Amino acid sequence: PQVCWLAPEQTAGKQKPYMYTQGQAVLNRSFFPCFDTPSVKCTYSATVQVPEGFTAVMSATSWEKQKDNTFVFKMSQPIPSYLIALAVGDIVSADVGPRSRVWAEPCLIEAAKEEYDGVIEEFLAVGEKLFGPYVWGRYDILFMPPSFPFGGMENPCLTFVTPCLLAGDRSLADVIIHEISHSWFGNLVTNATWGEFWLNEGFTMYAQRRISTEVYGLAYTCLEAATGRALLRQHMDNTGEDHPLNKLRVVIEPGFSFFLGVNPDDTYNETPYEKGYCFVSYLAHLVGDQSKFDAFLQAYVNQFKFQSITADDALGFFLEYFPELKEKGVDSIPGFEFDRWLNTPGWPPYLPDLSPGEQLMKPADELAELWAADSLNVEAIEAVDITSWRTYQLVYFLDKILQKSPLPEGNVERLSKMYPKISKAQNAELRLRWCQIVLKNNLKAEYSKVKDFLHSQGKQKYTLPLYRAMWGGSESARALALETFLATAPQLHVNVQNYVKKILGLEGAE
Ligand code: BES
Ligand code: ZN
Repeated sequence: PQVCWLAPEQTAGKQKPYMYTQGQAVLNRSFFPCFDTPSVKCTYSATVQVPEGFTAVMSATSWEKQKDNTFVFKMSQPIPSYLIALAVGDIVSADVGPRSRVWAEPCLIEAAKEEYDGVIEEFLAVGEKLFGPYVWGRYDILFMPPSFPFGGMENPCLTFVTPCLLAGDRSLADVIIHEISHSWFGNLVTNATWGEFWLNEGFTMYAQRRISTEVYGLAYTCLEAATGRALLRQHMDNTGEDHPLNKLRVVIEPGFSFFLGVNPDDTYNETPYEKGYCFVSYLAHLVGDQSKFDAFLQAYVNQFKFQSITADDALGFFLEYFPELKEKGVDSIPGFEFDRWLNTPGWPPYLPDLSPGEQLMKPADELAELWAADSLNVEAIEAVDITSWRTYQLVYFLDKILQKSPLPEGNVERLSKMYPKISKAQNAELRLRWCQIVLKNNLKAEYSKVKDFLHSQGKQKYTLPLYRAMWGGSESARALALETFLATAPQLHVNVQNYVKKILGLEGAE
Protein backbone atom coordinates (compact mmCIF):
# COMPACT_ATOMS: atom_id res chain seq x y z
CA PRO A 1 0.00 0.00 0.00
CA GLN A 2 2.91 2.42 0.40
CA VAL A 3 3.60 2.44 -3.31
CA CYS A 4 1.56 5.42 -4.47
CA TRP A 5 -0.54 4.93 -7.59
CA LEU A 6 -1.93 8.17 -8.98
CA ALA A 7 -4.72 8.56 -11.51
CA PRO A 8 -4.16 11.09 -14.32
CA GLU A 9 -6.22 13.75 -12.54
CA GLN A 10 -3.84 13.55 -9.57
CA THR A 11 -0.87 14.67 -11.66
CA ALA A 12 0.11 18.14 -12.78
CA GLY A 13 -0.54 17.35 -16.45
CA LYS A 14 -3.71 15.32 -15.82
CA GLN A 15 -3.03 13.16 -18.91
CA LYS A 16 -1.28 10.00 -17.74
CA PRO A 17 -1.13 8.01 -14.51
CA TYR A 18 1.91 8.13 -12.24
CA MET A 19 3.46 5.96 -9.57
CA TYR A 20 6.12 6.68 -6.99
CA THR A 21 7.54 5.19 -3.83
CA GLN A 22 8.47 6.88 -0.55
CA GLY A 23 10.79 4.74 1.55
CA GLN A 24 11.53 6.75 4.67
CA ALA A 25 11.05 5.75 7.40
CA VAL A 26 9.89 2.09 7.16
CA LEU A 27 7.69 1.96 4.06
CA ASN A 28 10.01 0.13 1.68
CA ARG A 29 9.27 -3.23 3.29
CA SER A 30 5.99 -3.16 1.39
CA PHE A 31 7.82 -2.37 -1.88
CA PHE A 32 10.43 -5.18 -1.92
CA PRO A 33 11.82 -7.70 0.58
CA CYS A 34 14.60 -6.08 2.58
CA PHE A 35 16.30 -5.55 5.90
CA ASP A 36 14.27 -2.40 6.39
CA THR A 37 16.42 -0.74 9.03
CA PRO A 38 18.80 2.19 8.56
CA SER A 39 21.54 0.15 10.26
CA VAL A 40 22.04 -2.07 7.19
CA LYS A 41 23.51 -0.77 3.91
CA CYS A 42 23.87 -2.40 0.51
CA THR A 43 24.16 -1.65 -3.18
CA TYR A 44 21.26 -2.49 -5.50
CA SER A 45 20.26 -2.89 -9.08
CA ALA A 46 16.80 -2.93 -10.61
CA THR A 47 15.16 -3.74 -13.91
CA VAL A 48 11.91 -1.89 -14.48
CA GLN A 49 9.61 -2.37 -17.45
CA VAL A 50 7.07 0.39 -18.06
CA PRO A 51 4.28 0.94 -20.62
CA GLU A 52 5.00 2.83 -23.83
CA GLY A 53 5.22 6.57 -23.28
CA PHE A 54 6.42 6.36 -19.68
CA THR A 55 9.78 6.99 -18.08
CA ALA A 56 11.18 5.31 -14.96
CA VAL A 57 13.66 7.04 -12.66
CA MET A 58 15.38 5.73 -9.52
CA SER A 59 17.82 6.79 -6.83
CA ALA A 60 20.70 5.14 -8.67
CA THR A 61 24.23 5.91 -9.85
CA SER A 62 23.58 4.88 -13.45
CA TRP A 63 20.69 3.96 -15.69
CA GLU A 64 20.16 2.70 -19.17
CA LYS A 65 17.07 2.39 -21.35
CA GLN A 66 16.93 -0.95 -23.13
CA LYS A 67 14.43 -2.35 -25.64
CA ASP A 68 10.78 -2.93 -24.70
CA ASN A 69 10.62 0.12 -22.43
CA THR A 70 12.91 -1.51 -19.94
CA PHE A 71 15.10 0.59 -17.67
CA VAL A 72 18.09 -0.88 -15.87
CA PHE A 73 19.38 0.91 -12.77
CA LYS A 74 22.45 0.38 -10.64
CA MET A 75 23.37 1.99 -7.34
CA SER A 76 27.05 1.32 -6.84
CA GLN A 77 27.44 2.71 -3.30
CA PRO A 78 26.03 1.00 -0.22
CA ILE A 79 22.87 2.74 1.04
CA PRO A 80 20.18 1.95 3.61
CA SER A 81 16.89 0.50 2.31
CA TYR A 82 14.91 3.71 2.94
CA LEU A 83 16.86 5.53 0.22
CA ILE A 84 15.74 3.23 -2.60
CA ALA A 85 13.10 5.07 -4.60
CA LEU A 86 11.29 4.70 -7.90
CA ALA A 87 8.98 6.97 -9.88
CA VAL A 88 7.24 6.23 -13.19
CA GLY A 89 5.22 8.70 -15.20
CA ASP A 90 5.20 11.08 -18.09
CA ILE A 91 8.56 12.50 -17.03
CA VAL A 92 11.09 14.51 -19.05
CA SER A 93 14.35 16.19 -18.10
CA ALA A 94 16.44 19.29 -18.68
CA ASP A 95 20.04 20.05 -17.76
CA VAL A 96 20.62 22.69 -15.08
CA GLY A 97 24.30 22.13 -14.35
CA PRO A 98 27.36 20.01 -15.16
CA ARG A 99 26.16 17.11 -13.00
CA SER A 100 22.52 18.05 -12.51
CA ARG A 101 19.25 17.95 -14.33
CA VAL A 102 15.65 18.53 -13.34
CA TRP A 103 12.99 15.91 -14.06
CA ALA A 104 9.30 16.79 -14.21
CA GLU A 105 6.08 16.27 -16.10
CA PRO A 106 6.27 18.08 -19.45
CA CYS A 107 3.97 20.90 -18.30
CA LEU A 108 6.33 21.74 -15.42
CA ILE A 109 9.72 21.26 -17.02
CA GLU A 110 10.19 24.85 -18.21
CA ALA A 111 9.37 26.25 -14.79
CA ALA A 112 11.63 23.67 -13.15
CA LYS A 113 14.55 24.54 -15.39
CA GLU A 114 13.97 28.25 -14.91
CA GLU A 115 13.88 27.90 -11.11
CA TYR A 116 17.20 26.05 -10.74
CA ASP A 117 19.24 26.61 -13.90
CA GLY A 118 22.84 27.36 -12.92
CA VAL A 119 22.33 27.41 -9.13
CA ILE A 120 22.61 23.75 -8.09
CA GLU A 121 26.29 23.50 -8.90
CA GLU A 122 27.12 26.33 -6.52
CA PHE A 123 25.31 24.56 -3.65
CA LEU A 124 27.19 21.32 -4.43
CA ALA A 125 30.54 23.09 -4.71
CA VAL A 126 30.10 24.86 -1.38
CA GLY A 127 29.01 21.57 0.19
CA GLU A 128 32.15 19.86 -1.11
CA LYS A 129 34.35 22.68 0.13
CA LEU A 130 32.85 22.37 3.61
CA PHE A 131 32.20 18.67 4.02
CA GLY A 132 34.41 16.83 1.53
CA PRO A 133 33.84 15.08 -1.81
CA TYR A 134 30.33 14.59 -3.18
CA VAL A 135 30.47 10.83 -3.74
CA TRP A 136 27.16 10.19 -5.50
CA GLY A 137 28.08 11.23 -9.06
CA ARG A 138 24.98 13.07 -10.25
CA TYR A 139 22.67 15.30 -8.27
CA ASP A 140 19.30 15.44 -10.07
CA ILE A 141 15.93 16.74 -8.85
CA LEU A 142 12.53 15.16 -9.57
CA PHE A 143 9.49 17.43 -9.24
CA MET A 144 6.72 15.24 -7.90
CA PRO A 145 2.95 15.41 -8.34
CA PRO A 146 1.26 17.92 -5.98
CA SER A 147 0.27 15.28 -3.40
CA PHE A 148 3.90 14.41 -2.56
CA PRO A 149 3.87 14.52 1.27
CA PHE A 150 7.27 16.17 1.84
CA GLY A 151 9.07 19.33 0.85
CA GLY A 152 11.95 17.17 -0.24
CA MET A 153 13.25 13.62 0.10
CA GLU A 154 16.98 13.06 -0.21
CA ASN A 155 16.95 9.95 -2.41
CA PRO A 156 20.60 9.64 -3.49
CA CYS A 157 21.46 10.97 -6.98
CA LEU A 158 17.82 12.04 -7.37
CA THR A 159 16.13 14.22 -4.74
CA PHE A 160 12.32 14.09 -4.86
CA VAL A 161 10.67 17.49 -4.20
CA THR A 162 7.22 19.01 -3.99
CA PRO A 163 6.22 21.15 -6.99
CA CYS A 164 5.48 23.91 -4.42
CA LEU A 165 9.17 24.78 -4.73
CA LEU A 166 8.41 26.28 -8.14
CA ALA A 167 7.86 29.73 -6.66
CA GLY A 168 9.30 31.51 -9.71
CA ASP A 169 11.92 33.40 -7.71
CA ARG A 170 14.22 30.71 -6.22
CA SER A 171 12.98 31.76 -2.78
CA LEU A 172 12.49 28.18 -1.54
CA ALA A 173 15.96 26.89 -2.46
CA ASP A 174 16.64 26.20 1.22
CA VAL A 175 14.82 22.89 0.72
CA ILE A 176 17.24 21.95 -2.07
CA ILE A 177 20.22 22.98 0.06
CA HIS A 178 18.78 20.84 2.85
CA GLU A 179 18.46 17.76 0.63
CA ILE A 180 21.93 18.33 -0.82
CA SER A 181 23.28 18.46 2.75
CA HIS A 182 21.92 14.97 3.33
CA SER A 183 24.49 13.80 0.72
CA TRP A 184 26.95 13.88 3.64
CA PHE A 185 24.70 13.77 6.72
CA GLY A 186 22.14 10.99 6.44
CA ASN A 187 23.11 9.37 3.16
CA LEU A 188 26.84 8.88 3.88
CA VAL A 189 26.71 8.89 7.70
CA THR A 190 23.36 7.41 8.66
CA ASN A 191 21.46 7.15 11.93
CA ALA A 192 21.60 3.49 12.96
CA THR A 193 18.09 3.65 14.43
CA TRP A 194 15.09 5.92 13.86
CA GLY A 195 15.19 6.73 17.57
CA GLU A 196 18.23 8.91 16.78
CA PHE A 197 16.81 10.58 13.69
CA TRP A 198 18.34 13.88 14.90
CA LEU A 199 21.72 12.57 13.71
CA ASN A 200 20.33 12.77 10.18
CA GLU A 201 18.21 15.89 10.48
CA GLY A 202 20.00 17.98 13.13
CA PHE A 203 23.38 17.67 11.40
CA THR A 204 21.67 18.33 8.07
CA MET A 205 20.00 21.50 9.36
CA TYR A 206 23.41 22.64 10.57
CA ALA A 207 25.05 21.79 7.23
CA GLN A 208 22.20 23.47 5.32
CA ARG A 209 22.71 26.69 7.27
CA ARG A 210 26.49 26.54 6.78
CA ILE A 211 26.00 26.32 3.01
CA SER A 212 23.32 29.01 3.16
CA THR A 213 25.66 31.30 5.10
CA GLU A 214 28.34 30.89 2.43
CA VAL A 215 25.91 31.47 -0.44
CA TYR A 216 23.44 34.05 0.95
CA GLY A 217 25.26 35.49 3.97
CA LEU A 218 24.78 35.32 7.72
CA ALA A 219 21.91 37.80 8.05
CA TYR A 220 19.60 35.93 5.70
CA THR A 221 20.56 32.55 7.17
CA CYS A 222 19.83 33.73 10.72
CA LEU A 223 16.44 34.96 9.56
CA GLU A 224 15.67 31.55 8.04
CA ALA A 225 16.89 29.88 11.26
CA ALA A 226 14.59 32.16 13.27
CA THR A 227 11.59 30.87 11.30
CA GLY A 228 12.82 27.35 12.13
CA ARG A 229 12.97 28.29 15.82
CA ALA A 230 9.39 29.59 15.59
CA LEU A 231 8.30 26.19 14.23
CA LEU A 232 9.97 24.47 17.19
CA ARG A 233 8.24 26.90 19.57
CA GLN A 234 4.83 26.18 17.95
CA HIS A 235 5.48 22.44 18.11
CA MET A 236 6.47 22.49 21.79
CA ASP A 237 3.51 24.73 22.65
CA ASN A 238 1.17 22.28 20.91
CA THR A 239 2.57 19.12 22.46
CA GLY A 240 3.85 20.43 25.81
CA GLU A 241 7.59 20.72 26.40
CA ASP A 242 7.67 17.52 28.47
CA HIS A 243 6.30 15.34 25.69
CA PRO A 244 8.54 12.27 25.31
CA LEU A 245 9.03 13.06 21.62
CA ASN A 246 10.64 16.38 22.57
CA LYS A 247 13.98 14.80 23.31
CA LEU A 248 16.64 13.98 20.76
CA ARG A 249 16.80 10.29 21.63
CA VAL A 250 13.34 8.82 21.25
CA VAL A 251 12.23 5.44 22.51
CA ILE A 252 10.61 3.52 19.66
CA GLU A 253 9.04 0.36 21.03
CA PRO A 254 9.55 -2.60 18.69
CA GLY A 255 6.49 -4.56 17.64
CA PHE A 256 6.08 -8.29 17.97
CA SER A 257 3.22 -10.72 17.53
CA PHE A 258 -0.13 -8.97 18.09
CA PHE A 259 1.56 -5.94 19.67
CA LEU A 260 2.25 -3.48 16.91
CA GLY A 261 4.81 -1.25 18.60
CA VAL A 262 5.49 2.32 17.45
CA ASN A 263 5.76 3.32 13.81
CA PRO A 264 8.84 5.59 13.43
CA ASP A 265 6.85 7.77 11.03
CA ASP A 266 4.56 8.65 13.94
CA THR A 267 7.49 10.18 15.81
CA TYR A 268 8.16 12.76 13.07
CA ASN A 269 8.21 16.33 14.41
CA GLU A 270 10.32 19.51 14.64
CA THR A 271 12.48 18.40 17.57
CA PRO A 272 15.10 16.32 15.70
CA TYR A 273 15.41 19.17 13.20
CA GLU A 274 15.56 22.31 15.29
CA LYS A 275 16.62 21.01 18.71
CA GLY A 276 19.12 18.85 16.83
CA TYR A 277 20.34 21.99 15.07
CA CYS A 278 20.75 23.69 18.46
CA PHE A 279 22.78 20.76 19.80
CA VAL A 280 25.14 20.74 16.81
CA SER A 281 25.40 24.54 17.14
CA TYR A 282 26.23 24.01 20.82
CA LEU A 283 29.05 21.63 19.87
CA ALA A 284 30.35 24.32 17.48
CA HIS A 285 30.05 26.87 20.29
CA LEU A 286 32.14 24.64 22.58
CA VAL A 287 34.84 24.52 19.91
CA GLY A 288 34.56 28.29 19.51
CA ASP A 289 36.12 28.49 16.05
CA GLN A 290 34.04 27.97 12.91
CA SER A 291 36.87 26.69 10.73
CA LYS A 292 37.92 24.16 13.37
CA PHE A 293 34.34 22.93 13.65
CA ASP A 294 34.02 22.73 9.86
CA ALA A 295 37.18 20.61 9.84
CA PHE A 296 35.64 18.38 12.49
CA LEU A 297 32.49 17.88 10.39
CA GLN A 298 34.64 16.87 7.45
CA ALA A 299 36.60 14.42 9.62
CA TYR A 300 33.31 13.05 11.02
CA VAL A 301 32.00 12.33 7.53
CA ASN A 302 35.29 10.74 6.56
CA GLN A 303 35.37 8.62 9.71
CA PHE A 304 31.84 7.25 9.39
CA LYS A 305 31.10 7.36 5.64
CA PHE A 306 29.01 4.43 4.36
CA GLN A 307 28.30 3.44 7.97
CA SER A 308 25.35 3.72 10.31
CA ILE A 309 26.08 5.16 13.72
CA THR A 310 24.56 6.03 17.09
CA ALA A 311 24.71 9.36 18.91
CA ASP A 312 27.27 7.80 21.25
CA ASP A 313 29.53 7.11 18.25
CA ALA A 314 29.15 10.70 17.04
CA LEU A 315 29.72 12.32 20.43
CA GLY A 316 32.55 9.93 21.29
CA PHE A 317 34.27 10.95 18.07
CA PHE A 318 33.73 14.63 18.87
CA LEU A 319 35.46 14.24 22.25
CA GLU A 320 38.29 12.25 20.71
CA TYR A 321 38.78 14.85 17.99
CA PHE A 322 38.98 17.64 20.58
CA PRO A 323 40.94 16.04 23.47
CA GLU A 324 41.26 19.39 25.26
CA LEU A 325 37.44 19.60 25.43
CA LYS A 326 37.22 16.02 26.63
CA GLU A 327 39.78 16.90 29.31
CA LYS A 328 37.64 19.84 30.41
CA GLY A 329 34.63 17.52 30.75
CA VAL A 330 32.41 19.47 28.34
CA ASP A 331 30.06 16.52 28.16
CA SER A 332 28.99 17.08 31.77
CA ILE A 333 28.70 20.86 32.26
CA PRO A 334 25.69 21.25 34.60
CA GLY A 335 22.56 22.09 32.59
CA PHE A 336 24.28 21.25 29.28
CA GLU A 337 25.18 17.60 29.82
CA PHE A 338 25.26 15.64 26.54
CA ASP A 339 23.05 13.16 28.33
CA ARG A 340 20.52 15.90 29.05
CA TRP A 341 20.54 17.03 25.43
CA LEU A 342 19.75 13.48 24.36
CA ASN A 343 17.37 12.28 27.05
CA THR A 344 15.53 15.25 28.56
CA PRO A 345 12.50 16.60 26.71
CA GLY A 346 11.94 20.33 26.34
CA TRP A 347 13.32 23.57 25.02
CA PRO A 348 17.03 23.45 24.03
CA PRO A 349 19.34 24.52 26.86
CA TYR A 350 21.47 26.47 24.35
CA LEU A 351 20.24 28.59 21.43
CA PRO A 352 22.64 29.82 18.76
CA ASP A 353 22.89 33.59 18.45
CA LEU A 354 20.66 34.74 15.59
CA SER A 355 21.25 38.46 16.14
CA PRO A 356 23.12 38.86 12.81
CA GLY A 357 19.63 38.54 11.29
CA GLU A 358 18.37 41.46 13.38
CA GLN A 359 18.57 43.93 10.49
CA LEU A 360 16.01 41.81 8.64
CA MET A 361 13.92 40.75 11.65
CA LYS A 362 13.57 44.08 13.43
CA PRO A 363 11.48 45.85 10.78
CA ALA A 364 9.22 42.78 10.66
CA ASP A 365 8.92 42.67 14.46
CA GLU A 366 8.01 46.35 14.56
CA LEU A 367 5.46 46.08 11.79
CA ALA A 368 3.79 43.11 13.50
CA GLU A 369 3.64 45.17 16.69
CA LEU A 370 1.84 47.97 14.82
CA TRP A 371 -0.75 45.56 13.40
CA ALA A 372 -1.51 44.10 16.82
CA ALA A 373 -2.57 47.48 18.26
CA ASP A 374 -6.19 48.12 19.26
CA SER A 375 -6.38 51.27 17.21
CA LEU A 376 -4.17 51.11 14.17
CA ASN A 377 -1.50 53.72 13.57
CA VAL A 378 -2.16 53.78 9.84
CA GLU A 379 0.43 56.42 9.14
CA ALA A 380 3.21 54.36 10.74
CA ILE A 381 2.02 51.23 8.95
CA GLU A 382 1.91 52.93 5.56
CA ALA A 383 5.43 54.24 6.10
CA VAL A 384 6.77 50.68 5.96
CA ASP A 385 7.34 49.45 2.43
CA ILE A 386 7.24 45.65 2.34
CA THR A 387 7.41 45.37 -1.45
CA SER A 388 11.17 44.80 -1.28
CA TRP A 389 11.00 42.20 1.51
CA ARG A 390 12.25 38.70 0.74
CA THR A 391 10.00 35.69 1.20
CA TYR A 392 11.52 34.63 4.53
CA GLN A 393 11.19 38.16 5.90
CA LEU A 394 7.48 38.01 5.10
CA VAL A 395 7.29 34.51 6.61
CA TYR A 396 8.92 35.84 9.77
CA PHE A 397 6.47 38.76 9.88
CA LEU A 398 3.47 36.44 9.41
CA ASP A 399 4.70 34.10 12.15
CA LYS A 400 4.73 37.11 14.48
CA ILE A 401 1.21 38.08 13.40
CA LEU A 402 0.11 34.50 13.99
CA GLN A 403 1.62 34.49 17.49
CA LYS A 404 -0.28 37.70 18.29
CA SER A 405 -3.55 36.43 16.80
CA PRO A 406 -6.45 36.77 17.16
CA LEU A 407 -5.78 40.43 16.38
CA PRO A 408 -8.26 43.13 17.45
CA GLU A 409 -11.49 43.07 15.41
CA GLY A 410 -11.04 44.23 11.82
CA ASN A 411 -7.23 44.34 11.74
CA VAL A 412 -6.70 41.18 9.70
CA GLU A 413 -9.23 42.31 7.09
CA ARG A 414 -7.30 45.54 6.71
CA LEU A 415 -4.00 43.72 6.59
CA SER A 416 -5.38 41.49 3.85
CA LYS A 417 -6.42 44.50 1.76
CA MET A 418 -3.22 46.42 2.38
CA TYR A 419 -0.89 43.56 1.39
CA PRO A 420 -2.19 41.57 -1.60
CA LYS A 421 1.42 40.40 -1.93
CA ILE A 422 0.64 38.33 1.18
CA SER A 423 -3.07 37.55 1.07
CA LYS A 424 -2.99 36.64 -2.63
CA ALA A 425 0.45 35.03 -2.56
CA GLN A 426 1.21 32.00 -4.73
CA ASN A 427 4.27 31.05 -2.68
CA ALA A 428 3.42 27.98 -0.57
CA GLU A 429 5.23 29.13 2.59
CA LEU A 430 3.31 32.41 2.50
CA ARG A 431 0.04 30.66 1.70
CA LEU A 432 0.46 28.33 4.68
CA ARG A 433 1.00 31.27 7.06
CA TRP A 434 -1.85 33.26 5.58
CA CYS A 435 -4.22 30.29 5.96
CA GLN A 436 -3.10 29.84 9.58
CA ILE A 437 -3.83 33.53 10.24
CA VAL A 438 -7.22 33.29 8.53
CA LEU A 439 -8.14 30.37 10.79
CA LYS A 440 -6.76 31.78 14.03
CA ASN A 441 -8.75 34.98 13.41
CA ASN A 442 -11.75 33.04 12.09
CA LEU A 443 -11.89 35.18 8.97
CA LYS A 444 -14.73 33.39 7.20
CA ALA A 445 -14.49 35.62 4.14
CA GLU A 446 -11.15 33.99 3.34
CA TYR A 447 -11.93 30.35 4.16
CA SER A 448 -11.83 29.63 0.44
CA LYS A 449 -8.09 30.30 0.51
CA VAL A 450 -7.63 27.47 3.01
CA LYS A 451 -9.70 25.17 0.87
CA ASP A 452 -7.87 26.10 -2.34
CA PHE A 453 -4.48 25.61 -0.72
CA LEU A 454 -5.39 22.17 0.60
CA HIS A 455 -6.76 21.19 -2.79
CA SER A 456 -3.61 22.36 -4.56
CA GLN A 457 -1.00 20.24 -2.69
CA GLY A 458 -0.66 17.52 -0.05
CA LYS A 459 2.54 18.26 1.86
CA GLN A 460 2.26 16.85 5.38
CA LYS A 461 3.85 19.88 7.07
CA TYR A 462 1.26 22.16 5.42
CA THR A 463 -1.73 19.86 5.68
CA LEU A 464 -1.65 18.78 9.33
CA PRO A 465 -1.25 22.23 10.95
CA LEU A 466 -4.20 23.51 8.94
CA TYR A 467 -6.46 20.61 9.92
CA ARG A 468 -5.39 21.02 13.55
CA ALA A 469 -6.25 24.72 13.36
CA MET A 470 -9.62 24.06 11.73
CA TRP A 471 -10.53 21.32 14.17
CA GLY A 472 -9.56 23.50 17.12
CA GLY A 473 -11.62 26.41 15.74
CA SER A 474 -15.26 27.40 15.32
CA GLU A 475 -18.14 25.18 14.18
CA SER A 476 -17.78 26.54 10.65
CA ALA A 477 -14.04 25.89 10.66
CA ARG A 478 -14.75 22.29 11.62
CA ALA A 479 -17.28 22.00 8.81
CA LEU A 480 -14.64 23.36 6.42
CA ALA A 481 -12.23 20.68 7.65
CA LEU A 482 -14.65 17.83 7.01
CA GLU A 483 -15.76 19.13 3.64
CA THR A 484 -12.17 19.66 2.50
CA PHE A 485 -10.97 16.29 3.73
CA LEU A 486 -13.85 14.45 2.05
CA ALA A 487 -12.95 16.05 -1.25
CA THR A 488 -9.17 15.71 -1.07
CA ALA A 489 -8.57 12.47 0.89
CA PRO A 490 -8.06 10.25 -2.17
CA GLN A 491 -5.24 12.50 -3.34
CA LEU A 492 -3.33 12.46 -0.06
CA HIS A 493 -0.50 10.07 0.77
CA VAL A 494 -1.86 7.24 2.92
CA ASN A 495 0.21 8.34 5.94
CA VAL A 496 -1.10 11.89 5.67
CA GLN A 497 -4.67 10.59 5.24
CA ASN A 498 -4.33 8.63 8.47
CA TYR A 499 -2.89 11.57 10.41
CA VAL A 500 -5.74 13.83 9.26
CA LYS A 501 -8.29 11.16 10.21
CA LYS A 502 -6.74 11.07 13.66
CA ILE A 503 -7.01 14.85 14.01
CA LEU A 504 -10.65 14.78 12.88
CA GLY A 505 -11.44 11.80 15.12
CA LEU A 506 -12.53 9.66 12.15
CA GLU A 507 -12.43 5.90 12.30
CA GLY A 508 -9.62 4.05 10.59
CA ALA A 509 -7.01 6.13 12.34
CA GLU A 510 -4.22 4.14 13.94
N1 BES B 1 14.24 13.16 4.99
C1 BES B 1 13.34 14.25 5.16
C2 BES B 1 11.91 13.90 4.83
C3 BES B 1 11.33 12.74 5.64
C4 BES B 1 11.52 12.66 7.00
C5 BES B 1 10.59 11.78 5.02
C6 BES B 1 10.98 11.60 7.72
C7 BES B 1 10.06 10.72 5.74
C8 BES B 1 10.26 10.63 7.09
C9 BES B 1 13.79 15.44 4.31
O1 BES B 1 15.16 15.60 4.21
C10 BES B 1 13.29 16.69 4.98
O2 BES B 1 13.66 16.89 6.11
N2 BES B 1 12.50 17.50 4.29
C11 BES B 1 12.02 18.76 4.82
C12 BES B 1 12.85 19.89 4.26
C13 BES B 1 13.01 21.08 5.16
C14 BES B 1 13.49 20.76 6.55
C15 BES B 1 13.93 22.11 4.51
C16 BES B 1 10.56 18.87 4.40
O3 BES B 1 10.06 18.03 3.67
O4 BES B 1 9.92 19.80 4.85
ZN1 ZN C 1 16.04 16.25 6.06
